Amino acid sequence: MKFTNLVSFAALSASTLFPSVAQAWNQGSVDGTDPFQPYTIYAYGINATFIGYGSRLTSLFVHDKNNIPREVVVGYDDPHQYLIDTETNRTFFGAIVGPYANRIKNGTFNIDGETFHVPENEHDGEDTLHGGFDGYDTRNWTMTQYNTSSITFTLYDSSGTGGFPGTKISHVTFSLSDATANSRGKLTGRMVTVALDQPTPVMLASHIYWNLGAFQSTTILNDTLWMPNANRIISIDGIEVPTGGLQSVKYPFQSPSVPLNFTYPKQVYEGVLYSQQCGTGCTGIDNAFILDRPPYDGPESTSDVQLQWQSPDTGITLKLRTNQQSLQIYTCNGQNGSIRSHASQGNPKIEKYGCLVVETQQWIDGINQPEWGQLDRQIFGAMTGPAVNWLEYEFTTEEWDY
Ligand SMILES: *[C@@H]1O[C@H](CO)[C@@H](O)[C@H](O)[C@H]1NC(C)=O
Ligand SMILES: *[C@@H]1O[C@H](CO)[C@@H](O)[C@H](O)[C@H]1NC(C)=O
Ligand SMILES: *[C@@H]1O[C@H](CO)[C@@H](O)[C@H](O)[C@H]1NC(C)=O
Ligand SMILES: *[C@@H]1O[C@H](CO)[C@@H](O)[C@H](O)[C@H]1NC(C)=O
Ligand SMILES: *[C@@H]1O[C@H](CO)[C@@H](O)[C@H](O)[C@H]1NC(C)=O
Ligand SMILES: *[C@@H]1O[C@H](CO)[C@@H](O)[C@H](O)[C@H]1NC(C)=O
Ligand SMILES: *[C@@H]1O[C@H](CO)[C@@H](O)[C@H](O)[C@H]1NC(C)=O
Ligand SMILES: *[C@@H]1O[C@H](CO)[C@@H](O)[C@H](O)[C@H]1NC(C)=O
Repeated sequence: MKFTNLVSFAALSASTLFPSVAQAWNQGSVDGTDPFQPYTIYAYGINATFIGYGSRLTSLFVHDKNNIPREVVVGYDDPHQYLIDTETNRTFFGAIVGPYANRIKNGTFNIDGETFHVPENEHDGEDTLHGGFDGYDTRNWTMTQYNTSSITFTLYDSSGTGGFPGTKISHVTFSLSDATANSRGKLTGRMVTVALDQPTPVMLASHIYWNLGAFQSTTILNDTLWMPNANRIISIDGIEVPTGGLQSVKYPFQSPSVPLNFTYPKQVYEGVLYSQQCGTGCTGIDNAFILDRPPYDGPESTSDVQLQWQSPDTGITLKLRTNQQSLQIYTCNGQNGSIRSHASQGNPKIEKYGCLVVETQQWIDGINQPEWGQLDRQIFGAMTGPAVNWLEYEFTTEEWDY
């Protein structure tokens, strides 16, 4: 393991940068309801900016191997651009998606013998993606807690909105932790949903698009990715809706690699350029990887690193821990250079394979697959505990040790 010195981080000392908007909030002159007000949180060597529109992360700076601060997420500089995005490309950049992330087959599900139908917003009405037309990424969340290093957004969702039964309250908290001798800081997220009355599907997810190289390369194909517990994926059909099957990542055997086997570290291109399990006509990764934790850990253990990923350009490694049962990995197969990211990254065009989305979530469309035994993690109501999706992104610039 190699350390680089942290001297240049002094300029980011959180106490000297406590932002005026946070002061205004704590003094009561900002009410937290402007969905386009940016809020920045700080820790030693790291900062992150959010808006209430979609409870969205819009910016995240960490220091690279040479101590240069780098913007590592995809996004727009003008917060209002996210509203235009929803109305046009609906990329979900940085948003919280919900109330039920990913795809629901035919927009239909059953709870206790009653059939519910939610409007389908994808594939000419064949499925519902990320909560449909009224998904949580399109909603104006209220900022309800804000201090130097932590922020919370809250959404009250009344029964029937978007076709989903049940009233729900969600609190999404993001916090930063200081850089230390061997870490460049951490971003922790906690999405808590309390269903107040009728049983209803709940699966919130964070939909951050990452580029750990800060777009010094046009794609992430040369990056290295490792998902030690990802032995299986959820089988999907041509429109990426689960078929009910689960399959080992050891299939199909294809020369020169077994594309979706990232249980050992390998370069992203070895998977992306050879995998065609992301829907009809698609080459790339857009798959739900099941996290098979070792038996001596609990099934929701947060101790294991579930994903580790490094850019050769910045040396930044991201290590992910979560309590969730799967990771949806998307290699920006649908981008084609028509959208540009932050000015601090050089306003790069976002090309195909130019970024990576990692969504910690439960087994997708598990509400329609009761034989998977996942309903307790997906249906919530007055008689259950809250739904909690916890994740932690830790950044380092150490060399890998495996
Ligand atoms: C976050 O950190 C970067 C890099 O140091 C800096 O350029 C930016 O101004 C900071 N953001 C805010 C809102 O303070
Ligand atoms: C959406 O994509 C189109 C190109 O297809 C582009 O012209 C437009 O600016 C994009 N919208 C946003 C908000 O980036
Ligand atoms: C899809 O949903 C519609 C509307 O609820 C229903 O009429 C139709 O039977 C469903 N199709 C299938 C294949 O389940
Ligand atoms: C969110 O706020 C914006 C700006 O005030 C408004 O245009 C939009 O309609 C609101 N969206 C919802 C879903 O309430
Ligand atoms: C900021 O708020 C979070 C969440 O309430 C809390 O855990 C943390 O201790 C607070 N930090 C400071 C410096 O007040
Ligand atoms: C990946 O690495 C190869 C070999 O060093 C280089 O030719 C190629 O340009 C790199 N591609 C990207 C997108 O960085
Ligand atoms: C994935 O690849 C590793 C290294 O070649 C191998 O040991 C492992 O058995 C493979 N996993 C599967 C599920 O094929
Ligand atoms: C490029 O992507 C945008 C946004 O997804 C889409 O609207 C547009 O049709 C695409 N253009 C081409 C040439 O595929």
